[in-house]
Amino acid sequence: MCGIVGYIGGRQAQTILLNCLGRLEYRGYDSCGIAVAAEHTTVFKDAVRVKALAQTLPKLEGKTGIGHTRWATHGEPSMINAHPHCDCTGRIAVAHNGVINNSQKLKQQLVSEGHLFVSETDSEVIPHLIEKYYEDSLPKAVEAALHEIEGSYAIVVLMEGERELVVARKDSPLIIGIGDRENFIASDVPAILDYTSRVMYLEEGDVAVVTGDEVKVRGNGVEVAREEHKVPWTVKDAQRGGYEHFMLKEIHEQPKVVRDTLSEYISIAQPAADMTVVGGSGMEDILMLACGTSYHAALVGKYIIEQLVKIPVRVEIASEFSYSGRASARNKAIVISQSGETADVLKAIKQLKNEDCHVIAVTNVVGSTVSRIADQVVYTRAGPEISVAATKSFVAQLIALYWLTLPYSRVDIRQLDEMVLGLRQLPGKIQQVFDNEEAIKSLAAEFARFNNAFFVGRGINYPIALEGALKLKEISYIHAEGYSAGELKHGPFALLGPETPVVAVVARDNTYEAMLANIKEVKARKSPVLALVEDDDDEVSGLADWIIPVPGVDALFSPVVNVVVLQLLAYYTAKQRGCPIDFPRNLAKSVTVE
Ligand code: G6P
Repeated sequence: MCGIVGYIGGRQAQTILLNCLGRLEYRGYDSCGIAVAAEHTTVFKDAVRVKALAQTLPKLEGKTGIGHTRWATHGEPSMINAHPHCDCTGRIAVAHNGVINNSQKLKQQLVSEGHLFVSETDSEVIPHLIEKYYEDSLPKAVEAALHEIEGSYAIVVLMEGERELVVARKDSPLIIGIGDRENFIASDVPAILDYTSRVMYLEEGDVAVVTGDEVKVRGNGVEVAREEHKVPWTVKDAQRGGYEHFMLKEIHEQPKVVRDTLSEYISIAQPAADMTVVGGSGMEDILMLACGTSYHAALVGKYIIEQLVKIPVRVEIASEFSYSGRASARNKAIVISQSGETADVLKAIKQLKNEDCHVIAVTNVVGSTVSRIADQVVYTRAGPEISVAATKSFVAQLIALYWLTLPYSRVDIRQLDEMVLGLRQLPGKIQQVFDNEEAIKSLAAEFARFNNAFFVGRGINYPIALEGALKLKEISYIHAEGYSAGELKHGPFALLGPETPVVAVVARDNTYEAMLANIKEVKARKSPVLALVEDDDDEVSGLADWIIPVPGVDALFSPVVNVVVLQLLAYYTAKQRGCPIDFPRNLAKSVTVE
């Protein structure tokens, strides 16, 4: 949600903090700020993007500093509500991610003790609590303050005159980047890739004291050792690489992502060993949980597994699971999360584990919280995804689901070989979609004038209709709804007409005839139809107002090529409408609050 950075070492902190914050803006971008400490603590913050803040800053002297980029939860985006927050003396500064559930109570108590609050945030109680408990040691005061706090937090604390940063985390991610006589703090890895690829992941409840030369971690009140890891991503992975937007770069990376994800799995001696959950003997059903785009991947997964393995799959939105859900009959579940940090997903995993459920996580981020609390992890190899709108991580999730399911599919060996071949051909097929990019762009220019749209599909492409609608609404702000094509007549028909286009995702499978009939119904209600059809299709082409031809693939794999078309349609429509594509309003890349 929000992004945190910190620096301590031999260099001036200001430039490093701003650079790290810039890399982290996808976490939230309604306001930002930095605090640098030397003899005094100096804080600069505002309700602007990092670049704008950098332009207004004077040169700040200090080799210790912290920074924050915000996605508002408590209090509107404003200079006062931006982080870092300070205590009454202005000596202690704190950047915080998460939510303090008992902040009101703590604030009342602190106010009655004479503390003066200026913001509407829950976070501001932290520096005041630290001030209250400070005697002669910052780490001790932080530990005492954390003792009082209920909720989730990742914090980095700085105090003037102290050559140390104190960091802590609970239910919110935080890493320490290890440099050469300098160390970095960040809520996510891409923030620090310019400086180091050596990281230490903090565990739940850890409190660490970080100086330029060392990192001392305490867990449950005693000193603990946390391993150092090498991050598999490079700075280049987290840069725009000549593209106008991260989203476009990430869409174009998809052939490589499919290749990398497949070759990773193929190189593992027993790729299916992890996935007895899909086909283990006596397996009766499977539960899948996720949010947002990952939820749509899970829905595609349902069709893949049910078609190939013939066992029922239940897919639930992670945020709803705690109200209605129970683990599957055999107590095994697949949880999908690109970031591995989505709060609702983490909560659902905890509930599953309380029910003794065996949790398999599909995630893109090595060392993420999901990867550490799940029983087994299957990594996608999408590389860092910076654009708020997920694209390449979705396709990588689909590849993971195909690959994990294939070994258990009830098909003969010849069909299996054909499917593996089909998977291997997908990078080339996606490339063929790009060959048609100019046409999609021109079509988007027309599409951009509408304010409402429906996306429809059937079978395995129904979730792709949902994903297409989500992509369009999140970055172009066109109101778009995804429907199973058969449901459109149960209500949405009332909204059809010349100003409400319908995007139909048509696959050459057992849904084709019904889709054809649905398109005719839509046309009869005068809605313009944009159809995605296989290259050589005549029937739908004769009916639709616009056609986007897609390369022919086995219908099972059609979601992969179709979604790339819809990603490009959303991208170019948003571009035509002049939207801030990588930073859509009110959204954030990873949602670490419930
Ligand atoms: C946010 C992002 C989406 C993402 C969803 C789930 O809403 O903007 O792109 O699909 O979170 O995130 P996860 O990291 O759990 O896949």
